[in-house]
Parts: sequence; C-alpha cells; structure tokens
Amino acid sequence: METRSQWGTRAGFILAAVGSAIGLGNIWRFPTVAYENGGGAFLIPYLFALLTAGIPILILEFTMGHKYRGSAPLTYRRMNKKTEFIGWWAVLVAFVISTYYSVIIAWAMSYSVFSFNLNWGSDTQTFLFQDYLKVADAGEVGSFVPGVLIPLILVWVLTLGILFKGVKKGIEIANRIFIPALVIIFLIIVIRAITLPGAIEGLEAFFTPDFSKILDPDVWVAAYGQIFFSLSIAFAIMITYSSYLPRKSDLTNNAFITGFGNSSFELLAGIGVFGVLGFMAVQSGVAVDQVVSDGVGLAFIVFPEIINQFPGLNALFGFLFFASLVLAGLTSLMSITETYVAGLMDKFKISRTKAVAFGGGLAAVISLLFATQGGLNFLDAADYFINQFGVALLGLVEVVLIAWILREVKNLKEHANEISDIKLGAWWTVSLVGITPIVLGYMMYGLLKQNLLRQFETDTGNYSNYTDSFILWGGWSVAIGALVIGILMALTKWKKSSVVEEETYKKEAQ
Ligand code: ALA
Repeated sequence: METRSQWGTRAGFILAAVGSAIGLGNIWRFPTVAYENGGGAFLIPYLFALLTAGIPILILEFTMGHKYRGSAPLTYRRMNKKTEFIGWWAVLVAFVISTYYSVIIAWAMSYSVFSFNLNWGSDTQTFLFQDYLKVADAGEVGSFVPGVLIPLILVWVLTLGILFKGVKKGIEIANRIFIPALVIIFLIIVIRAITLPGAIEGLEAFFTPDFSKILDPDVWVAAYGQIFFSLSIAFAIMITYSSYLPRKSDLTNNAFITGFGNSSFELLAGIGVFGVLGFMAVQSGVAVDQVVSDGVGLAFIVFPEIINQFPGLNALFGFLFFASLVLAGLTSLMSITETYVAGLMDKFKISRTKAVAFGGGLAAVISLLFATQGGLNFLDAADYFINQFGVALLGLVEVVLIAWILREVKNLKEHANEISDIKLGAWWTVSLVGITPIVLGYMMYGLLKQNLLRQFETDTGNYSNYTDSFILWGGWSVAIGALVIGILMALTKWKKSSVVEEETYKKEAQ
C-alpha cells in the first residue's frame, strides 16, 4: 500500500528541487567566492566540482530517495541497517542550518521594508551592526533584538504553514509561485545592473581569469564547498525530496536540469552583483576590489550603499533585491526543514502536523538565539563549522560509504538507468568511486589540519580570530553535536508499525 506523499507533477518536483538549490548561497556567496578565488579562472574548478561531484551526487541522492522511498534516515537504513545514523547526522546538520538560515531571511525581510525609506542612511555599516543588530561581543548573548525577532517569527509561520499543508498542496504550490516570481525579479535586477555606468568594469573584474590561483588547493576547496551548499547535497534534502517521486520518474535528467538551473542562476547572480559593484566603484572613484565584500557584508552593507547611489527608483530596486533574497531563502528553508519533518514522521509514525509542530517548533525556538545581540557571532561560527565539518564531511562519508564500503554504485546505477532517458556510464562511476572521494578526502585532511592547529597552537589564531572557548562552544560542539545526536537518534527504537512497514517494503522490493 503506497501511503507516502507524492509530488503532483514532474515540473512540481523540479521546481521544488531548483527552489531548494537556489538560495542565499547563490546570491550572496557565489559572486564573492568566485571573485576571490581567481575570477574567471574559478569557473574551471567550479565546473570540475559540478561535473564530478555536484551532479553525480545529486543523481546519487535522487536515486537513493527514489529507490528506498524514505527520509534520509529511513533511506540509509533500508540500504544498510547500520548506516541509519548517517541519515540522522545529515538531518541534524540540516536542522542546525535551518536555525540560522531562517534568521538571515528575517534580516532580508527587515531590509526589504527599510528599502522604502532607505532607513539605513549613509553609514550602512554602523546601521547594520549598531542600529539594527545591536551586536554584542563574541560569546555574549545579550537581549533579544525586536527588529530581528519579529520577522523571524514571520519566517517560521510562513515556512511551517507551508509544510503543514504537505508535499503537493504546500511545498509544490509554494515553489510554483515563488520560483517564477524570483526569476522575474532577479532578471529585472540583473538587466538594470548591467546597464548602469561602470557595470563593464565590474564584469571585467569578475571574469578576468587569474590562472595563478588554479594551483592553489584552497581554491578547489572553495569550489567544492560552494557546489555542496548551493546544490543542497549531502544534507538530507535531495534524498527526502526524491522519496516523494512517483515510481516512473526520470532521475538523471531531473538532476541535470536542477544542477544546470542552479548554476545558471548562480552565474546570473555573479553578473548582477559585479555589475552593481562596478557601478559603485566608478561612483566612488576606486577599484572594484575595494568594494567587494562577502556574505553579510555584501548583502547588508554594500548593497544598501549601492541602492543609495542608484540613479533612480532606489526604493523599488532595494525592495526587489531584498525580496529576491527572501524568496530564494524561503524555498530553501522549506526543503531544509522538510528533512527532519520527514525523518520524524518515518521513525515515530506521527502525523505531518505533529512532526512539523515538534521539529519545526524546536528549530524555531533554537533560532531565537540568533535573534539576540550575540546572534551574529554565533551564526558566523555555527555556519563555518557546520559547513566544513557537517556538509562537506558528510559528502565525503556518503561517497566513501556508498562507493567503497557498501559498493552500491552499480545497483543504484541500474536503478536510475531503468527509468531515466540519459543512461549513466563510466563518468558517473569514475566520479563517485575515484575523483570525488580523493578530492574531498584531501580537502578534509587540509581543513582538519588547519582548524585543529588553530585550536591547539596559540599563535595561529582561530577562525575569524574568535577566542578558543567561543570556537569550542559555538563551532566545534555544534558540528560534533550533530553527529552525536544523529547517533542517538539512530539508536532510538523504531515505532512498531514502522518496522512492520519496513518488512512489507522489503518483500515488495524483492
Ligand atoms: N542550497 C541553498 C543555498 O544555496 C541552501 O542557499
């Protein structure tokens, strides 16, 4: 008996997968990561990472979710009982990400309102850190910041409201509305950006390749990191989404559409962002590299400054930019949250309503920490550590487990090939068995060495020069906590009816 929720249409699934992939990472992270890692030359490691890790792992996750028809923990369990904890670990990593990702969307919401009167004034940096976030020293919590708290509640009400409605009536419909709206808004912004005076200088800075960077291992690390976060792979999302696919579904083709759709949007964001950065540099009479900044700085300091200098319709363009961040963020947050909603429903046989209320409710409560005066520092540390020692490490564990230990690549390839138009061949196998584990293994070795050295050697300085104890609690314990709680969840007994269903599933599959 098939009781699992299903997508209504193929387009619905693709829009949801693309909606998950396109997020804050595309708009505020990619342009600067690309610029700082060789500009045009970054596209070489980026494309290599996309074609040897991004799309192959996306196909892998689509196939796993489709074949084993479960949330990440259930999918891993059905593949091999002992590996359930990896599914939970991925879900826990997603849980952590959702707690701070929601806060960034809340900031973007506030800023879309600030746009109407350009409330940030001329000193956008002071406005962000002092007037808006009221930032306290690292490690201090301080009091709640109402300007963050209120939109944060709204973000959760919207996200959980959509998830309550379910896969077809909630997530699918929301993506059908949000994604076309996002693309239209973004195209308007990009067209305006590249027609501004100075845009060419910005684009030149963005695309001019610095080939000397290609030999730098850090550039490759940056490319892989960007691909993993941006494509929403290795943190349970794509396994969960593909578990809702009907039996007859083209997996490979869907993965290519999702992967290339996401990268096209990313490139478009790069063009838009560097167009306006060029404009700002020319207005201020400085070189483009003087105005480049990343993440928080780019979106909430540099952009408001650019909006101030816009030749016309400042408020409208400010609103459109921050609204695009909100839309891109919400469609990703839905997918991140769905991972633990699905995990709880499968394991404890509870209704969607209960799973959303409990899982989403808990994430919302924890996210309040980031709506305090100390929130920005906690967010920064949690984001860095959960990305490196959550997402990237999980990517490595996933491929090593499936390709080397369980040797499932052949089985999964047969499953995908049976139902997909594009047939997988040597490229997929070589990427998963050879290239990706080796490159990711090397990358993880370098990252661990660098961060452990920072932690234990007094003169090297921690990530972002935070204190040892702050990094221990705000960074390491978050990343390690996700693994430990993941293991505990896997050790928890399954509800009896889930186990019965499991037996039925096995018989059906034989
Ligand atoms: N894939 C999402 C992003 O890029 C999580 O933000």
